Amino acid sequence: MIMFFIETGLMQSLLIFFVRSWRDGDEWSRVWDMESAIDRILFSEAEIRGRLDELGAVITEDLRGKQLTAVVILHGGMILMADLLRRIQLPLKMDSLAVQSYHGGTESSGVLTFGNGMPDVRDRHVLLLDDILDTGRTLVGVREKLLTEGGAAGVSSCVLLSKRKNRAKEIEPDYVGFVMDDEFVVGYGLDYEGRFRNLPFIGVLDPSKLDGEEGE
Ligand code: IMP
Ligand code: MG
Repeated sequence: MIMFFIETGLMQSLLIFFVRSWRDGDEWSRVWDMESAIDRILFSEAEIRGRLDELGAVITEDLRGKQLTAVVILHGGMILMADLLRRIQLPLKMDSLAVQSYHGGTESSGVLTFGNGMPDVRDRHVLLLDDILDTGRTLVGVREKLLTEGGAAGVSSCVLLSKRKNRAKEIEPDYVGFVMDDEFVVGYGLDYEGRFRNLPFIGVLDPSKLDGEEGE
């Protein structure tokens, strides 16, 4: 009798294990199916890593001695923040600011919506991080807000990507990872309607190849 329970218990565990692995495997293949909507890879994981090594070294030298707070613009800059800050060999604080300009789609709406309040940056030097510079509205708007409302002593801005185009608001970021043509890209923090942020590379999206909602 005991042997029967042990055996069926074991059988159950094994069954659960196999069903779970099959289900999780399926989830992952759905996530990576996203890649089929990518037209081409613009910057590979290795290229991004190499460029971040360079930026980290330059920023470490430039901002040495400052009371530094890194402020990331959510959500797009999160992955840049995680990878770049580990290459900056200085004492610093981390904070974030939620800003939206796209409100879905592939065109900036031109209206900035601020969330989650103002980081405490009074009298501190801010290293402002964003994924991409497009029309310039986000970076200019956030920079202004940090200096006037936040009372920051100074702001240095860093974007991973900068689109080559005429901007609605002119700004030259202090640090730029890569300059690129005016195309819509996803991956490495950048999204299309909330998806693709977790791709480890940056790719050009072909929206016509999208196959409906996530997980369908
Ligand atoms: P800007 O205010 O027009 O400069 O827009 C900056 C914001 O728009 C970035 O922080 C991104 O969130 C978003 N964005 C601009 N271009 C792209 C793109 O090619 N892919 C995904 N998001 C983008
Ligand atoms: Mg953004």
